[in-house]
Amino acid sequence: MTENHPVKPRAGHTNLDPHLDRYAARTAGMTASEIRALFAVASRPEVVSLAGGMPNLAALPLNSLSTQVSEIITEEGLVALQYGSAHGIPTLRDQICEIMALEGISAHPDDIVVTVGSQMGLDMVTRIFCDPGDVVIAEGPSYVGALGSFTAYQAKVIHVAMDEHGLVPETLREALAQAKKNKLRVKFLYTIPNFHNPAGVTLAVERRAEILEICREYGILVVEDNPYGLLGFNGQVYPALRSTDPDNVVYLGSFSKTFASGLRVGWVLAPHAVREKLVLAAESATLCPPTLNQIIVSRYLSTHDWKGQIKNFQENYRERRDAILNALDNYMPPGCSWTKPDGGFYVWMTMPEGVDTKAMLPRAVTARVAYASGTGFYADGFGSRQLRLSYCYPTPERITEGVRRLASVLEAEMDLVRTFGSVTPRSISGPESPSPDTA
Ligand SMILES: Cc1ncc(COP(=O)(O)O)c(C=O)c1O
Repeated sequence: MTENHPVKPRAGHTNLDPHLDRYAARTAGMTASEIRALFAVASRPEVVSLAGGMPNLAALPLNSLSTQVSEIITEEGLVALQYGSAHGIPTLRDQICEIMALEGISAHPDDIVVTVGSQMGLDMVTRIFCDPGDVVIAEGPSYVGALGSFTAYQAKVIHVAMDEHGLVPETLREALAQAKKNKLRVKFLYTIPNFHNPAGVTLAVERRAEILEICREYGILVVEDNPYGLLGFNGQVYPALRSTDPDNVVYLGSFSKTFASGLRVGWVLAPHAVREKLVLAAESATLCPPTLNQIIVSRYLSTHDWKGQIKNFQENYRERRDAILNALDNYMPPGCSWTKPDGGFYVWMTMPEGVDTKAMLPRAVTARVAYASGTGFYADGFGSRQLRLSYCYPTPERITEGVRRLASVLEAEMDLVRTFGSVTPRSISGPESPSPDTA
């Protein structure tokens, strides 16, 4: 580094980094979430973490899975431990078609690309469609990992509102009309129709056709992200957007929430015309998805009662959802509101006026409870009065205790607000943008 080349740290980089002047411009938006910054503290056993979206795997049949993995290596190790096709193994793609048929999707296995989790699908879809400055429309709030991918490709996100029935079609129409007027290049609508992360709401079936029609009218694709679709607490399964509009919907699926997140197996079902570009993008990212993991998933599907296992997951999460809703009813002070999910992992809460959930987070962690503050779920700094609670992982008793602790932190915060007005956000180490939310 020369004297006449002074380096100014970019947002999100520390000035201790000797490579500062080498990073690509797109890395400026890549920053860790405040939850990541607090992770070391939040993951201490005495802290009840309602922050992360880690699936609860305790009910998996570990012994029989272990036998099966050993059999796979013995019987077909030379295939399982070898490179495979970028497309994914054919048997698994056939099985994925059967799974998607539960949501009314009729797909050809050739149009499926197996990915390293649906997070990779998000990355690939953004990579093939978005140039810097292009616009992605997304619900507000939206999944942090998706916002991270959009930012990484320098796409701009415009949020559209949801209510308790999911994305509001009229706000989508308005946003698209405005974007057209401003000559913005909108590439796609990114939507999580079922058991939304983080909002906990589901898109009403009556709205689905209208949303597809608006997107067609404005010539934009729909990216339907559906990792929680089979986790309805009453066994209800909603028709996928993709089921009625195969040429205009890219569908993202995953085994992370219905089987095992650590195997990192997901998929993209693309319109036929897009499939080739996706395979090329997948090839350049990873050459191929892990063969062993795909075979593990495929064997599991063909030899285990996977539908019964999903039922187990539903019951497990329903019990936790009941615990969190009861605790919220019992402990939260007046002035708060929250969504009432009927599937998935998350409750979205709105705090009384003047409370800043990011500023409150260190105080909550000190009181041994963690949550994900709202601003990370928006690309535009909105969400300071909101937070996400995940009920998927802790036991019902711990969830109840966590909510009790949070309520007393909130009471103290509201006292401060009443005395001093709005509580000034305190800077905590780590900036605000999203990161994958396994914390
Ligand atoms: C809405 C949404 N999409 C995608 C993902 C990524 O899942 P995967 O583990 O398949 O990469 C998650 C994970 O939490 C999610 O909530």
